[in-house]
Amino acid sequence: MKPILYFFPFILFIKFSKSSPMQELPPDYYDDDDDEASREGKFKTICYYTNWGSHREIKESRLYPEDIPADLCTHIIYAFGMISGGNIQHTIQNDIQEYQGQGPLFKRIMKLKEKNRRLKILISCGGWGQAGQFEGIVGSDEARKNFAQNVITFCRKWGFDGIDLVKFGLLAKAMREVFEEEAKKTNKPRLLSSIATAAGEFLLKTGYDVPTLCKYLDFVNVMTYDLYGGWYNKVGHHAALYGTPEETGQDAELNTNSSMYHWIDMGCSRKKLAIGIPTYGRAFAGEDPIKAWGQGGGGNGGLTSRYLGESGIQTYFEVCMKLNSEGYKRFWHPEHQSAIAFKKGTWIGFDDPDGARVKCEYVVKEGLNGAMFWTLDMDDFSGNFCKNGSFPVIKAVRDCFKKAMIKTTTTTTTTTTTRKTTIPNINKDNKYNPNNNTGQKLIISFKFLLLNISALLVRTIIFR
Ligand SMILES: *[C@@H]1O[C@H](CO)[C@@H](O)[C@H](O)[C@H]1NC(C)=O
Ligand SMILES: *[C@@H]1O[C@H](CO)[C@@H](O)[C@H](O)[C@H]1NC(C)=O
Ligand SMILES: *[C@@H]1O[C@H](CO)[C@@H](O)[C@H](O)[C@H]1NC(C)=O
Ligand SMILES: *[C@@H]1O[C@H](CO)[C@@H](O)[C@H](O)[C@H]1NC(C)=O
Repeated sequence: MKPILYFFPFILFIKFSKSSPMQELPPDYYDDDDDEASREGKFKTICYYTNWGSHREIKESRLYPEDIPADLCTHIIYAFGMISGGNIQHTIQNDIQEYQGQGPLFKRIMKLKEKNRRLKILISCGGWGQAGQFEGIVGSDEARKNFAQNVITFCRKWGFDGIDLVKFGLLAKAMREVFEEEAKKTNKPRLLSSIATAAGEFLLKTGYDVPTLCKYLDFVNVMTYDLYGGWYNKVGHHAALYGTPEETGQDAELNTNSSMYHWIDMGCSRKKLAIGIPTYGRAFAGEDPIKAWGQGGGGNGGLTSRYLGESGIQTYFEVCMKLNSEGYKRFWHPEHQSAIAFKKGTWIGFDDPDGARVKCEYVVKEGLNGAMFWTLDMDDFSGNFCKNGSFPVIKAVRDCFKKAMIKTTTTTTTTTTTRKTTIPNINKDNKYNPNNNTGQKLIISFKFLLLNISALLVRTIIFR
């Protein structure tokens, strides 16, 4: 009797995959409905665009707004604007003016909304070296409201749908209230507010009122990357999904799952929390692809990104070059659930499409808000380096969210079916291994067995 239970979903699978090969996306896929009750089963793909990314020295590493597919992300966050004298301002001339033959970037990125009217574009303020500017705008209730009003003026002028603040959440309540008021008055969609924020608990302890913050913000991007780097004096993946039981103290917190649980445990709603996925790797010196993890030293692996000019960093497309033509090999750490590129003493922790998809499955399983990418221009946006289509890392996650959403909108029986068939390579300890296609084979052989059993049944009935 028991085996029948296993076969049942596959009967449905065969039937559905024949009669309706690809279902339409639910119309609200791009909806930035932030009402918690109705967010069930909706996931955001939040992508940072950098204005300096279109001015890089080496031409093939420049990403222009026109080269971003309008349906790649649900939200694009434009980095950076700046805060000056209680106002938001653009940071480079080219944001608002033609420069070196390039049309103004604000205007060009807004054109994406003509192709995808659900797309939201936010302006991000308060990157590095901006802390001083915040004192003037959070000092009093009046100052906060004033600032929120200035945000409205800026966003409405240039067409932004909201503001993203790096690390500073004190303004959340004032902004939400002023934004709501304005939306009512003008009959426009309310401006959104989000923050990009620290991942580790040791950073969280520096005084956020987490429940209030999460209540008033539309979403919270947790920067679950840069968790390891040359500064820490240890080798490790800068964006591992999970920790291991052997890790102690601070090391146990240096992974995506622990970071997200700190936010959850401190009272933030899961449906507001987006994980951060880097489209770049961090390099270290390490003698073994797997065992080097946690060992002392590491530095920057002697690597500097040719395109970014940053030491210890490699964009995803640079990692592809290393894997394809410089003798590096890809390894998968089964406990941390993370990809590593390794060659003779140089160790790079990075996220590829398979690693990013595991993180998507994590977001779906944990019922979180979505995934944020830092940044669009470090993915293989042209597709020329990795030979796996344009934006392979971000697309892997977007497509995985789409599948999850189709699943939640179809009937319960189909839901069970697709879940069984789309995540074949998770073993019973819930450890995912993209190189392990045993699960896949299992399903195929189940199908054969099913045919055998049907044949047997037919025979028994007919030739009885
Ligand atoms: C994720 O983090 C939570 C909270 O720290 C922990 O209970 C859980 O075991 C972690 N999951 C994995 C797979 O490590
Ligand atoms: C290319 O992209 C597909 C789909 O996301 C993924 O399954 C595959 O592993 C990728 N290939 C490489 C070499 O990363
Ligand atoms: C591969 O996956 C199968 C089933 O999903 C599991 O039983 C097996 O332990 C996995 N093997 C490895 C090496 O992870
Ligand atoms: C189904 O039957 C065929 C031939 O009768 C056999 O070769 C095959 O191994 C069977 N499949 C399974 C999964 O038992």
